[in-house]
Amino acid sequence: MTTESWLQCINPSCGKKYSVNEPRTNCDCGELLDVKYKGEFPTSLKETFSERLNHHQNIFNESGVWRFRELLNFAGVDTENYDDYSKKLVSLDGAEGRTKPFHLTRVADYVGLKSANFWLQFEGDNPTGSFKDNGMASAFTHARIVGAKKVVCASTGNTSSSAAAFAANELDMQAVILVGEGKIAKGKLAQSLAYGAKVLQVKGDFDVAMAMVQALSKQSDIYIVNSLNCFRLEGQKTMMFRILDYLRWKVPDWIVFPGGNLGNTSAFGKAFMELYEYGWIKKKPRMAVIVAEGAPTLSNMYNEHGLRWNNGNIDNSIIDDYYAEVERKGIKAKTRASAIEILKPVNLKKAIRTLEFTDGVVTTVTDEKILDAMAMVSKNGFGCEPASAATVAGTKKLVAQGVIKEDASVVGIATGHILKDTSAIVDYHFNPKNKFANTPIVVEPDVNQILKLANS
Ligand code: F0G
Repeated sequence: MTTESWLQCINPSCGKKYSVNEPRTNCDCGELLDVKYKGEFPTSLKETFSERLNHHQNIFNESGVWRFRELLNFAGVDTENYDDYSKKLVSLDGAEGRTKPFHLTRVADYVGLKSANFWLQFEGDNPTGSFKDNGMASAFTHARIVGAKKVVCASTGNTSSSAAAFAANELDMQAVILVGEGKIAKGKLAQSLAYGAKVLQVKGDFDVAMAMVQALSKQSDIYIVNSLNCFRLEGQKTMMFRILDYLRWKVPDWIVFPGGNLGNTSAFGKAFMELYEYGWIKKKPRMAVIVAEGAPTLSNMYNEHGLRWNNGNIDNSIIDDYYAEVERKGIKAKTRASAIEILKPVNLKKAIRTLEFTDGVVTTVTDEKILDAMAMVSKNGFGCEPASAATVAGTKKLVAQGVIKEDASVVGIATGHILKDTSAIVDYHFNPKNKFANTPIVVEPDVNQILKLANS
C-alpha cells in the first residue's frame, strides 16, 4: 500500500504546497506546514495494526511508531514490502513507541475519577526516556530522505537526548544541540553528552535557544529536528493510535497532557482530524492541555485574550500584542517543570487549531500541585518527571471544577521518565513540609535503633 504526500501551508487562505523532499519548516508566507496525504485508508488497517503486535522479529512491527506506518507514510514506502520500507524508515531497532495506557488506582482516586475509566500512558518508557523518540523516528526518516548528515535542535533536554541517540545510532549523522545554560535537568544533559552530541549551552533560556535555531534555519541547510519540523509531529501522532488500538478504537472522552512547545497538542489534534476524515472514528475526544503557571502563554492567549483558530483566520494582532507586552515587561518562563519552561511555543497556531477541532480546554497548574502529583504517581509504583505530572495535576483540577465529569473516560500522557530529573524528586522528599514527602531518616549504626525505626 503506497500513499501520496505533500507539504501544505496550514493557513487555508494561502494553502501553498511543497514537495515532501524539501527540508523546510515554514511556508514562504511564514506559516507552519502540515504533511498531507492522499491514498486508501481502509478501516481493516485497525486489525493489521493490532496483528503487528505479534511482530515476528520485524522491528518495524515492534516499533510503536512504524506499526502504524500506513497513517504516516510520507516516505512513500510500500508498507507491505519489508525490503522497501526497511531501507527507508529509521528506527532505534524497533524500540521506540512501545507504550500503552495503564490503570493507576491510587492516581485515579487522587484525581477524582473511577479507576476503570482512567489511564496513564507512560511515554517515559521510550528508549531515551521520553515521548520524543516517537517523533525522532519520523524526523530522522525524513532527514535521510533529504540526505541530511547534521541535525540541530533547541531543547529543554528531552528533544536533545532523543536527537542525540538517533544520530548516534545512525552512525553517519551528528547532532548539534542548543540548551539554555543551567536550564535542563542533569539526567537529560548527561544523556546528550553520553550519546556524543555537540552540546552548546546557550546563555539564555529555551526561548533564546529556539530563536537561535530559527535564525540558523534561514542561513544554513542544517536539518532541524524541533517540533517546528512537521515530520516530527507525524511520529508523535502514534501516541494517539496506540491509545485507540489498546482501547479497541473506543474513543475516550478526554486526552490530557502537558503543553510546552505545543508539538504534542498539534500532533494529537492532527491524528484525530485525519482519523475523523477517514471515517475511522465518529467521536472526537476533548483535549485538555495543561501548562505551568510560570509558562502560561497558551492559557493566557486562549482563555484570556480569546485567540481562536476561526477556520485559519487567526487574529495575529492578539499574538503580536501579547509578545510585545511580554518583551516590554521582561517576562521569562519560570517553572520547576523545566521541560515545559517555554514562553514562545512555536506550534501555537496548530495548537489553537487542535483546541477548536476537539472542543479542547487549557488550564494552568502551580509547581506545588505539579510536584505533589509527581509524588502521587510514584506512590502508585510508577513514575514520571515534573512536566509529565502536570497531566495529573491538571486532571485533578478539571475534575474538581466539573469540566471533566467524574464518570468520564480519561487517558493522560506521562511524557518523561522518573529518572530524568532526580533532583526535583530528592528536593521534594527531603522537605518534610511537602504533602507527600517521604523524608529519609538519619540513624546511628545501631541495630536496636534501626529495628525500632523499622517497626515504627
Ligand atoms: N513533557 C516533557 C517531558 C517534555 O520534554 C516536553 C517538551 C513536554 C512535555 C511538552 O511537549 O513541546 O510537545 O508541548 N520538551 C521539549 C524539549 C521542549 O526540548 O525536550 P510539547
